[in-house]
Amino acid sequence: MGSQWYRDKTYRRAMKAGYRSRASYKLIELQKRYSVIRQDDNVVDLGAAPGGWLQVARDLTEGKIVGTDLNPIAPIDGVTMITGDFTAEDVQKKVMEEMDVVNVVLCDASPKLSGHKSYDQARIAALTEAALAFACRMLKPGGNFVVKSFEGELFGDLMNEVKKHFRSVRAYRVAVSRKGSAETYIIAKNFIGDYDAA
Ligand SMILES: C[S@@+](CC[C@H](N)C(=O)[O-])C[C@H]1O[C@@H](n2cnc3c(N)ncnc32)[C@H](O)[C@@H]1O
Repeated sequence: MGSQWYRDKTYRRAMKAGYRSRASYKLIELQKRYSVIRQDDNVVDLGAAPGGWLQVARDLTEGKIVGTDLNPIAPIDGVTMITGDFTAEDVQKKVMEEMDVVNVVLCDASPKLSGHKSYDQARIAALTEAALAFACRMLKPGGNFVVKSFEGELFGDLMNEVKKHFRSVRAYRVAVSRKGSAETYIIAKNFIGDYDAA
């Protein structure tokens, strides 16, 4: 891990508190503001490694929790880990086998960035759309969805797409995002449940 991470105050605070990543504080902030996860919700976290959001979710709900990532995630008590690409059918089937009802889908996934702005924006938007399709496929009506995105040309279209499926949709920049980052979370609540996956 590079020295820039050690210098980061939020990272050091997270390690001290026993969290696996500074990202834990993003979910804590989103939860404080939007109450995304309820006490008995079943939660799926897409792009969950190393597991900071899973740790926070484990403290918030007594329901089932599944974490998926391209990379293996070290075990957390009471959390099922699935290694693989969440856009792939076999991974989605495994999630469905673990849970008959999904109340909340979280997605903090980010693709590896190339540094080419428009190419990266398109890949980020494609991943956000894939997470939305996943949420629409899995969520129970009334369920909630949180997804990371980045402000840019395609952001407005994404928001409009999410609004078609949820009764309440907000965009929010968390305080612990790195300085200068365009990272923005979309918080979508109350899934309408009219999604036709065909
Ligand atoms: C910023 S990290 C997530 C941090 C996590 N929320 C935490 O609190 O520890 C983004 C993760 O997204 C994962 N990812 C990106 N694309 C993915 C995909 N298609 N399927 C599964 N995971 C993916 C990456 O492997 C990476 O571990």
